[in-house]
Amino acid sequence: MKRVVLASANPGKLRELGSLLAPAGVELVPQSALGIEPAEETGNTFLENALLKARHAARAAQLPALSDDSGIEVDALGGGPGVRSARYAGDGASDAANLALLLRELAAVPAARRTARYRCVVAWVAFADDPAPLIGEGTWEGRIAPTPRGSGGFGYDPAFIPAGDTRTAAELPAQEKNLVSHRAKALRALVAALDAHGVYSRP
Ligand code: IMP
Repeated sequence: MKRVVLASANPGKLRELGSLLAPAGVELVPQSALGIEPAEETGNTFLENALLKARHAARAAQLPALSDDSGIEVDALGGGPGVRSARYAGDGASDAANLALLLRELAAVPAARRTARYRCVVAWVAFADDPAPLIGEGTWEGRIAPTPRGSGGFGYDPAFIPAGDTRTAAELPAQEKNLVSHRAKALRALVAALDAHGVYSRP
């Protein structure tokens, strides 16, 4: 197995990414297990943040690195909170506080204008200053419910209704979400790019 550092401490992401990459002979090691502090997310785009997180982890671990950056874009908020999704209600804000603020901001917005999407960018660098990082991107279209429902998922899931569904993302079984989510799509795109570049070929 080839060791690759994951620029995240989120156990859900580790499970999801780890199972997708295991067939390619990759063992993901979370940066926290190597004593690496998270990078500051100073980028203006998901891509910038994903890249700076991957480069930071690769430099500290002296290993290839994988990272992801994601968020929700609400059309009635001009695409916000976007890259600020995790700190929408302030630095260190809880998921519950961010979700409550989003629903307050949209209180007067009618159903037809509550369209939104999750976006995820994953980045792979072979080493810290890799001039040719590999990138995968995925989106998941939907709309914002008037009130939260469900206890699965995390973040904005209780208020996100995927297009073509009546359930919120927090009401979907995890396996179902993990097949169709922005993160799953981004990862599949990255795995295809890794294959295409022969970085780690499948058995
Ligand atoms: P990241 O961990 O820096 O990528 O921050 C992502 C933020 O976007 C999270 O804190 C959530 O608020 C939101 N987010 C991203 N993906 C999801 C998802 O699948 N469900 C719910 N919220 C998400």
